[in-house]
Amino acid sequence: MTTADKAVPTTTTNSGIPVGSDEHSLTVGHQGPIVLHDHYLIEKMAQFNRERVPERVVHAKGSGAFGELEITEDVSAYTCADFLQPGKKTELLIRFSTVAGEQGSPDTWRDPRGFALKFYTEQGNYDLVGNNTPVFFVRDPMKFQDFIRSQKRMPASGLRDHNMQWDFWTLSPETAHQVAWLMGDRGIPKTYRHMDGFGSHTYMWINEAGERFWVKYHFKTQQGIDFLTQAEADELAGTAPDAHRKDLFESIDRGDFPKWNLEVQIMPFEDAEKYRFNPFDLTKVWSQKDYPRKRVGVMTLNRNPENFFAQIEQAAFEPSNVVPGIGFSPDKMLLGRVFSYADTHRYRIGVNYAQLPVNAPKAPVNTYSKDGNMRYAYNAPDVPVYAPNSVGGPAANIAAAGPYNGWDSAGDMVREAYVQHPEDNDFTQAHTLVREVLDDAARDRLVNNVIGHVSDGVTSEVLDRVFAYWKNIDEEVGKRIEEGIRASQQS
Ligand code: HEM
Repeated sequence: MTTADKAVPTTTTNSGIPVGSDEHSLTVGHQGPIVLHDHYLIEKMAQFNRERVPERVVHAKGSGAFGELEITEDVSAYTCADFLQPGKKTELLIRFSTVAGEQGSPDTWRDPRGFALKFYTEQGNYDLVGNNTPVFFVRDPMKFQDFIRSQKRMPASGLRDHNMQWDFWTLSPETAHQVAWLMGDRGIPKTYRHMDGFGSHTYMWINEAGERFWVKYHFKTQQGIDFLTQAEADELAGTAPDAHRKDLFESIDRGDFPKWNLEVQIMPFEDAEKYRFNPFDLTKVWSQKDYPRKRVGVMTLNRNPENFFAQIEQAAFEPSNVVPGIGFSPDKMLLGRVFSYADTHRYRIGVNYAQLPVNAPKAPVNTYSKDGNMRYAYNAPDVPVYAPNSVGGPAANIAAAGPYNGWDSAGDMVREAYVQHPEDNDFTQAHTLVREVLDDAARDRLVNNVIGHVSDGVTSEVLDRVFAYWKNIDEEVGKRIEEGIRASQQS
């Protein structure tokens, strides 16, 4: 069948009025000016000028898909969250991303990868906005903005700058664990399918009886962990900058659905105070010997977006979305993020972002929020606009909001570091990673990755701190990095 045979619909304006031409503007005579009342041309140009929304201030380059979480085990002893009960299947959206690069940046830059999940549960949306690493660079939200600026671009040249990165890192020793992770093989996963995901923060789970537990989420890839060497990644950055987006889309398209096992570490509520590490410090992991991983279920990605902009670019993940049976923890980073994301969505997408189909819950919405730019859904006319009311409007219900998910805290307002636990130290866990988790070959690659990274524009003053930083992590690795740099400076 040719196009001519096919009954194609007539083009219309945004208001549904049939359009006479897709190709020619209205002019006065053959060579005359274009007239302002060619409203279809004006509509096309005006719409085009407004096609972009601001990109995410971080994690701008990303890719996403839909899927489901199936709960295969019974964790009801720890949480009463409905979607985590045995046998439950819940639809979800995932968005993977890099952190520092802009929307068009290569997928294969060395960077942590975002692992953002939205579960459309029957009790409302639950968003778990994590990374492919169990730790982070800083432990107080006061430092996040400065950290991100040090990873982005210089104000005058618009260039990224390794000196700025290492200046910040070496002046912030709490970054050591995450930097050791980043400079190793895990800093450039082979694809989004070949990496684990983590909730990273400590969250709270609460069971039906109101007992509270601390929990860490792990998503273990069934595809196996795999990575790119720096040389492979550099080549792909030039030849296939969207390599990870393509891999994800094509894999789902051909029915090769990627899967992750959801596992959790669970800590009894009372253990937190006496644990050897501060369990709320995001720069630390909990030892898996102390708190082994328990299987919960399986996540499968099985559906590609139909429209990248509407479903992935406009997706709005927010750690503030927790459902009954789940709570936050005293992790200051998490508490900071609970404010930040909804705020950025109001700016980036608009105040009614939660009404867009990709963000809208599958659960009923009975809210008193109203109006605002681009309002789409609204309450029936007989629903009052205020509460409390005596005319049958929605009423809050403390029992429906789930068991108590807070914790005791009392005292004066202070600005201070976390309480130190017996084994807390910025370098201990980074050392364990570099010395005990990495094998010799992986440690060699890490040393070379660091040498390559700091060889690019890092000043001698910062370099001295880089050597001390790495020697604090691991004396031998630090020495090798220093020797490697000194040798390259002489050649
Ligand atoms: C994205 C803020 C820490 C993971 C974002 C965005 C902001 C932000 C403003 C852009 C969101 C958007 O425009 O849609 C912060 C602040 C942090 C923090 C203030 C610390 C206080 C973290 C941590 C993680 C993380 C610790 C992981 C454990 C992500 C991910 C995204 C993101 C995965 C991308 C979400 C998506 O795919 O849309 N963050 N962030 N962030 N952040 Fe954070």
